[in-house]
Amino acid sequence: MSKIAFIGGGNMARALIGGLLSSGKSADKIIVAEPVAAAAQALSSDFGIEVSANNIDVVQQADCWVLAVKPQVVKGVVSELAALAAAQQPVVVSIVAGIPLGSLEKWLGGRCPLVRTMPNTPALVGKGITALFANQQASASQRALAEQIMQAAGTTLWVDDEALLDAVTAVSGSGPAYFFRVMEAMIDAGQALGLSQQQASQLTLATAAGAAELAIQSEHSVARLREQVTSPGGTTAAALEVMNDLAIGDLFDQALRAANNRAAELAQEADG
Ligand SMILES: NC(=O)c1ccc[n+]([C@@H]2O[C@H](COP(=O)([O-])OP(=O)(O)OC[C@H]3O[C@@H](n4cnc5c(N)ncnc54)[C@H](OP(=O)(O)O)[C@@H]3O)[C@@H](O)[C@H]2O)c1
Repeated sequence: MSKIAFIGGGNMARALIGGLLSSGKSADKIIVAEPVAAAAQALSSDFGIEVSANNIDVVQQADCWVLAVKPQVVKGVVSELAALAAAQQPVVVSIVAGIPLGSLEKWLGGRCPLVRTMPNTPALVGKGITALFANQQASASQRALAEQIMQAAGTTLWVDDEALLDAVTAVSGSGPAYFFRVMEAMIDAGQALGLSQQQASQLTLATAAGAAELAIQSEHSVARLREQVTSPGGTTAAALEVMNDLAIGDLFDQALRAANNRAAELAQEADG
């Protein structure tokens, strides 16, 4: 069974480690490199796993390396591990936002099995969705292992073109913030109609969660579900007419294009 080394023991790594242990992965098959003593101590006592401040010591023990550091430090971290990557040929799974596989390959000093992933923040409560893209060097079993790691924090899907990870970033990576913004607007509007902040917030959050769950469980498209709750001349129809008059479709089209373009720019900057 593969041993997994997490490089960086922050929020995302904690979410994945917690999920892996709950799904039956044994604690002695997980090791973490984390430089902050308090965070290292917490990981060790919360999960019963080995934690070290030394990245090299940690990766030497594992055949799967999960890069879980911030984008600003990944170049330094990966370059230091290049010789070991060449010698060990691990599968390297990156959850680092916006860093292309080409950059990781360059910093690692050559081609090795790599899987780039794009998770989102609901991973922190086990409800994330992660898109994955692998290079040619990654074997079927290495892809399966990467998928298993990301499924510890929610659901997964594969894309067959790395450029599509920019679109994934625009939809699901940045997506939680869009829903937060919509919920904020609904809470404000509910208060304007006389509800308390607490009431408007409770109603909005439960409605968002319920609508998402209904759509996930239903065999129908979201468009069909919308039609089913929209009686002609009714309250929902009155609200949707306003949204359509204000061009809600164009709003999201332009917003997601902006996020997609920005993701592509950031990837180019990271590669430069
Ligand atoms: N959070 C999300 O939902 C989310 C979604 C999509 C993608 N991501 C990506 O996931 C990655 C991790 O995010 P996060 O939220 O888990 O960040 P985080 O909480 O800041 O975790 C990163 C951890 O790595 C440690 N670290 C820093 N330098 C290191 C080094 N040289 N060697 C080993 N460890 C080092 C950090 O320590 P310090 O505290 O000292 O810096 C920190 O504990 C990021 O690249 C982010 O873009 C996150």
